[in-house]
Amino acid sequence: MKAVIAFVTYHGNCERAAQTLATLVEADGNQATVVSIRDGRIPDESWDALVICAPVHAGSIVRIARRFALQRAHRDRRFALVVSHGAPLNHFFSPIRSADKTHRRLIRRGMTAVLPPTYLRVAEPKGPFEAGFEEKLVEVRDALFA
Ligand SMILES: Cc1cc2nc3c(=O)[nH]c(=O)nc-3n(C[C@H](O)[C@H](O)[C@H](O)COP(=O)(O)O)c2cc1C
Repeated sequence: MKAVIAFVTYHGNCERAAQTLATLVEADGNQATVVSIRDGRIPDESWDALVICAPVHAGSIVRIARRFALQRAHRDRRFALVVSHGAPLNHFFSPIRSADKTHRRLIRRGMTAVLPPTYLRVAEPKGPFEAGFEEKLVEVRDALFA
């Protein structure tokens, strides 16, 4: 099985999440390809699962990541959203509303969500992630090919 793990980052945190997840996927005997969304490329279409790792700015998952996710949506394939954020989840600028919306839109396009959106909070605006982010990525890895 093969996962494409696509990321957007401004301070390096989502790339770190993507690379960490790829290592976890490969440790499980599956394939992982990490792709920078800003490069605008995806290796090929022969993947089983798509993971989007992207930050929230002004209450929304950054537009380039939302657009990429919707353009790459494939019926009957699996996906997971990994969203990095600085605000608390109950804050006005919480990532939840935007993540839920993108999650629902991918399901409407026929994709299968392997789990609800995963939230990785940064301890400072530029990172690093709060403790425990690797454990959340293990949950994503375990759900991807369950
Ligand atoms: C311009 C800007 C706006 C941001 N707006 C939000 C926001 O509305 N809600 C939030 O939770 N975090 C917000 N953040 C924090 C980012 O989500 C955080 O910097 C990001 O998750 C770090 O990931 P990255 O290093 O991959 O870019 C903002 C950060 C920047 C730079």
